[in-house]
Amino acid sequence: MDKGKHFEGQIGSHVISLKTADSTNSIAMELGAGDAPHGTVVVASRQTMGRGRLGRLWVSPKGNISMSILLRPTLRPAELRLLTLSVAVSCAQALKKVTGVHIGIKWPNDLMVSGRKLGGILTETKLRGKRVIFVVVGIGINVNSDANDFSPELWRTATSLRAETGREVPKDILMTEMLDRIGFWYGMLTTGGRECILNEWRNLSSTLGRKIRISTGKETLKGFAEALDCEGNLVVRLCSGARKVISAGAVTMVR
Ligand code: BTN
Repeated sequence: MDKGKHFEGQIGSHVISLKTADSTNSIAMELGAGDAPHGTVVVASRQTMGRGRLGRLWVSPKGNISMSILLRPTLRPAELRLLTLSVAVSCAQALKKVTGVHIGIKWPNDLMVSGRKLGGILTETKLRGKRVIFVVVGIGINVNSDANDFSPELWRTATSLRAETGREVPKDILMTEMLDRIGFWYGMLTTGGRECILNEWRNLSSTLGRKIRISTGKETLKGFAEALDCEGNLVVRLCSGARKVISAGAVTMVR
């Protein structure tokens, strides 16, 4: 395929809309291996095998947003973290604009309302050597779901826009606004606006300045979330006083 074709069109100019998918990320990864263009969006009303970060299952009932965006960026692998942070910023801004609900971002990219999880982002990448061939950014937002859609344990730490606003929220308006913001911040990322993305993430952060516990997979650490560095890593001041730069992990707030 002619490489130029990948860059035709904007994010969301090709949308594949499905009633049910196992995982929109899996479908978008398959499309990426073919010749689907940059900006292709896969949306499903519900997913049967939604995937979350760190190998977790993502519960995706009807009423929520499950969508994945195929991107063919000219970014280095190290810059992809900023891409995910920019999508978190985009979603927080879009959801706030449509519903008025203030959304915080828990590092790296959990969308939170008053300490409960509203949505998440899973970025998957196809590399050839050190070259990024394509990226799939999957976004799950709890829009019109309620306690009946989740196990009691999961609902204790989750929320939805309907639960927060007390009314049904139109998914199509949300998705249009999200794609618009993602297009804006993607443009920023690819034209040298990294610092703007980092600053907007810092403004929306619900992690910085808080006591946290972080599980990296290898160890669990306790400390103070001091900063977001220029690569999107979390800088933590440990109880010992040492400073640690964390590139991946799951954060919980400590009171
Ligand atoms: C997280 O664990 O916080 C990330 C959740 C990402 C879920 C979305 S829903 C659409 C896309 N398809 C998937 O299978 N996962 C992502």
